[in-house]
Amino acid sequence: MRILFVCIGNICRSPIAEGVLRHWAEYHQLSWEIDSCGVAGYHIGEQPHRFSQKVCLQHGINILGQRARKIKQRDFAEYDRIYAMATDVLDELQKMVSSREHLSKLSLFMDELEPGAGLSVPDPWYGDEDGYLPVYQMIEKGCLAIIERYGKK
Ligand code: 4NP
Repeated sequence: MRILFVCIGNICRSPIAEGVLRHWAEYHQLSWEIDSCGVAGYHIGEQPHRFSQKVCLQHGINILGQRARKIKQRDFAEYDRIYAMATDVLDELQKMVSSREHLSKLSLFMDELEPGAGLSVPDPWYGDEDGYLPVYQMIEKGCLAIIERYGKK
């Protein structure tokens, strides 16, 4: 299983999802390939935001080695599931896909918890540190739902 999480800058939300899902996949001995990226290139090469790093570390997850990158066309072929962290990101990704097969890999991350509700993980980039814990908690719930759905044999 190859899973890709996508947000805008790949420094706040999707790096948390990458770290959390990798943690739980390893815990369940699933040999999944997990990565994250952004639809924008403003932060290419940067570490996750310091508050994303901090909230993950507070939950025993180290994401300091991750680096931001931008989505590329090849990702649509290489990953099995591509999760958009928010509806604006899903819109951008849908504009990029060129086949029905690739379109079928795309979905909204929060649909794992509330299918069809059209929910986004709020972008904590514009707020202060307080915004990161609720974002972490939503992301952890969604990742555990992904493990339930694809990881239990
Ligand atoms: P993210 O948050 O998409 O969760 O990584 C953002 C980070 C940076 C920007 C926007 C969103 N930015 O515009 O630079």
